[in-house]
Amino acid sequence: MGFNVFVTRAIPEKGLKTLADVCDTLYVNPHDRPLSRQEIMDAVKGKERDGLLCLLCDNIDAEVIDALGRTIKGIANYAVGYNNIDINTAARRGIPVTNTPGVLTDATADLGWALLFSVARRIVESDRFTRAGKFDGWAPMLHLGADITGATLGVIGAGRIGTAFALKSKGFGMRVLYCDRSQNETLEREVNARRVDLETLLAESDFVSLHVPLTEETHHLIGAKELAMMKRTACLINSARGPVVDEAALLVALKAGTIAGAALDVYENEPEITPGLSEMDNVVMVAHIGSGTVSTRDKMAEMAAADLIAMMKGERPQHCVNPEVYE
Ligand code: NAP
Ligand code: GLV
Ligand code: GLV
Repeated sequence: MGFNVFVTRAIPEKGLKTLADVCDTLYVNPHDRPLSRQEIMDAVKGKERDGLLCLLCDNIDAEVIDALGRTIKGIANYAVGYNNIDINTAARRGIPVTNTPGVLTDATADLGWALLFSVARRIVESDRFTRAGKFDGWAPMLHLGADITGATLGVIGAGRIGTAFALKSKGFGMRVLYCDRSQNETLEREVNARRVDLETLLAESDFVSLHVPLTEETHHLIGAKELAMMKRTACLINSARGPVVDEAALLVALKAGTIAGAALDVYENEPEITPGLSEMDNVVMVAHIGSGTVSTRDKMAEMAAADLIAMMKGERPQHCVNPEVYE
């Protein structure tokens, strides 16, 4: 079929192999690092690409979309979140955009629990302490944390991942509150969850976990005002997108003891981190690894490759996020 595809960074082999089978030109970023904006522009401008496979950290704005030119038939994002792509401009140019929903739901929800446990029970802090040779025997007051069993869990954004995350609380007998634009019957039936407004969720939850996409509405959804509404003993967990939280306000709240702790997979200006945050003992920080299991990344690669090929063939892909291109 002889397609010309640009992949902004190597993804698991299965996806690359599927693409290689239908490509004359498959240009994969040869470096083990993200490409700069200029490098992405250079790799698309005048290159007559049929397809682009990109990452959530690549900013595919109107200028890049223009640089892709008339040959481009589809953009596949190797992620479920697609706030990095100007999908409206893509739609206006008639370019479909796809994402990778579903296959990463459990992996990301599991990571949410890893973060919740880590911050509640001070796992990372206690690990650092133990490795540093400071453990001199069991102590009545050492690294005391918060109860998980029986606590109140607040889930903001009860979509695929938020639902899976909340359902996994079953083993811990938690009271579950959620905020979403629509009612979630599964959560209400399975874990007796109650849909509440944001203020109630923040005031009553021991753990607040974010699962909304990043949009204009959710940008800084959690800022100084919202942090102040949380219990002083509560923890915030963010495995959604960094800018959903005002990171500077979070640092202030953590320093002041407005909340007890935070566990973060994502950062407002990723990969940069607000100075001072890394020095806080009551923050658990990991490197945007929500979907990072071997099998999940394989499935994402296969899904992105299959959708990109469908778009290049002029067929409708399975996971289009701007379906108005087909109207
Ligand atoms: P999803 O199924 O679309 O769920 C998102 C949910 O948030 C939907 O129920 C949506 O409601 C709700 N929502 C949107 N805007 C809202 C608002 N302003 N207030 C309250 N609720 C709102 O998506 P998903 O597959 O669960 O993924 C969610 C997000 O997780 C992704 O967009 C991505 O940013 C993030 N993520 C992160 C990682 C990681 O590695 N850390 C991995 C995967 C995903 P509607 O249905 O009404 O739109
Ligand atoms: C990861 O953050 C994703 O959106 O898939
Ligand atoms: C602790 O290790 C206990 O036995 O209570």
